[in-house]
Amino acid sequence: MHILLLCSAFNGLSQRFFVELVDAGHQVTVEVFTGDEALEQRLEASRPDIIIAPFLKRAIPERVWQDYRCFILHPGIVGDRGPSSLDWAILEGWHEWGVTLLEANAVMDAGDIWATRTFPLPPMAKSQIYRHQVTDAAVACLRELIARLQRGQQHGDPLDYARATTRGRERAALPMSARILDWQCDPTDLLLRKIRASDSLPGAPAQLAGVPVRVFNAWLAEAEVASQRGRAGEIFARDGDALCVATLDGALWVGHLRRSDNHATAQVKLPAAVALRDELAARSSLPLLDAQHSNKPRLEIRGRVAILHFPLLNGAFTVHDSQRLTTLFTRAAAERNVDAIVLAGGDDFWSNGIELNSIHVAENPAEEGWASINAIDDFAEAILTCRGKLVVSAVNANAGAGGAMLMLAADRVFMRAGVVINPHYKTMGLHGSEFWTLTLPWRADAEAAVALSENCLPVSARQAAALGLVDSVLDVSREAFLETVVSQISALIAPAALPDTLKAKARAQEEMRDGRPLDEYRREELGRMRGNFFADDLHFSSRRTAFVMKQPPCKTPEHLQRHNAAVAASMAEEQRDKSEAEV
Ligand code: COA
Repeated sequence: MHILLLCSAFNGLSQRFFVELVDAGHQVTVEVFTGDEALEQRLEASRPDIIIAPFLKRAIPERVWQDYRCFILHPGIVGDRGPSSLDWAILEGWHEWGVTLLEANAVMDAGDIWATRTFPLPPMAKSQIYRHQVTDAAVACLRELIARLQRGQQHGDPLDYARATTRGRERAALPMSARILDWQCDPTDLLLRKIRASDSLPGAPAQLAGVPVRVFNAWLAEAEVASQRGRAGEIFARDGDALCVATLDGALWVGHLRRSDNHATAQVKLPAAVALRDELAARSSLPLLDAQHSNKPRLEIRGRVAILHFPLLNGAFTVHDSQRLTTLFTRAAAERNVDAIVLAGGDDFWSNGIELNSIHVAENPAEEGWASINAIDDFAEAILTCRGKLVVSAVNANAGAGGAMLMLAADRVFMRAGVVINPHYKTMGLHGSEFWTLTLPWRADAEAAVALSENCLPVSARQAAALGLVDSVLDVSREAFLETVVSQISALIAPAALPDTLKAKARAQEEMRDGRPLDEYRREELGRMRGNFFADDLHFSSRRTAFVMKQPPCKTPEHLQRHNAAVAASMAEEQRDKSEAEV
């Protein structure tokens, strides 16, 4: 089938639909919906068999759903309607939620139902639930829809509010007033639900240190920490860049904030202590505590395996994060009782490369970018020069740009089925580093490496394995993935197997470098990156601003337009071949 994905932005869920459908052999094109006219023109030029909208914030125009079968993914249970489905479910403390795939008609979210799935709603932020539970359930619905259409089914099930199984209802948008954190009245549990229901967008409005802010990424403080609190709403401790805020009946750690005043860093989401740096500097120092669940990199030793966790918010590495990772990795590499080092990333993202928000607000973004790229390169170099230990990337969550290249520095790459990677830098106006010019062509062939970096398309775990980027795809749950990787590598580092494993590693490292010192790759890549940061020769500055400030796309991005044109050309050729065969 020729399937058009229509979306408000080509977000993570849309990318997952894209790779699923491509893997299933469909011709898939992508249109970012910016206006009725542009969409109608696009449809005149290429007539898809069906339209699927994985992430759409506006109604499909009547002319379009009259002419085409249009299917919409709604992140809510059957009967739920409106733009704030997950927000309401989290705020109201539902224990179970779901997604529904329905056909577009005249009433928004009320068309025939083609597939639905439910899942237990965990106490997590909306964006995390969207990336995990919603995405997995949505993919199950997508597969069911395609199977039903391929069986020739013509109709879904009508929405019927009289049925006992229809538990949802129409809801208005969640008003901003319902998200405001009232430190003087709200119990901790309600504050947490408000923050989670508003994370990552639009954030929960609050006052902190006298500054109007939006709050993100909060977690419950341990009882011992909470017992040291002062008045509700006061910041009373910090751990790295996380701040601890007293509540009426406990305390909350706040990881990230966005200022809403006129400060130079306003409107950019930053680590909490960075966002309130001026205010914190003006007061006496805060007690430093060690929080249990912050986004800090940490090393875990399990038997003879060292596991490096880096659950950084959004998988983004600041200079400090990369330095800490290099230190922890070097420590593991020097550990006599360790035979393998597993790079485990985080639950939400494995890595998305350097942290663009802190570069954006830095006094000198070029210098900050330069420092960030050198720091992440030091980490990549530590991995590539590690001898005497097997280094494994265990990729349980999506990765992009420098993060996707970083995983290739390991000796082996394990990836969970369902992970999507974006192994390219061009859309951010960067040449790229992390030794990608060494590792990518070594793993994929040179032609595929060029295609990956030029086409800028998402790649599924299955495609990544076919290209040679990944050694092993594990079709297991998120929860079971790391355990499975550790158990699979235990055979490679068993006393009888270890010498051969390390010999093979040394041989592969030699072959990959082909007599060329690592330093040459680094110098060449960073030479180009210098131009990107200091001369802005690929428009990094405006591209980064658009990304950080979340400027909505005004048209389908050029790399997707190029992809659409290539799909149209290949379908036309196929059609010509078919017609000639018939003659
Ligand atoms: N720095 C700072 N924030 C980042 C980030 C980075 N490198 N990569 C992702 N994020 C943030 C996004 O701003 C977004 O934040 P929000 O929840 O506050 O809106 C969140 O992570 C999720 O990212 P999003 O873009 O919505 O996810 P996606 O699944 O749609 O797309 C990527 C994934 C990797 C394609 C996309 O995030 C991306 O291009 N990131 C930038 C990668 C990059 O260029 N890194 C620098 C060069 S090494």
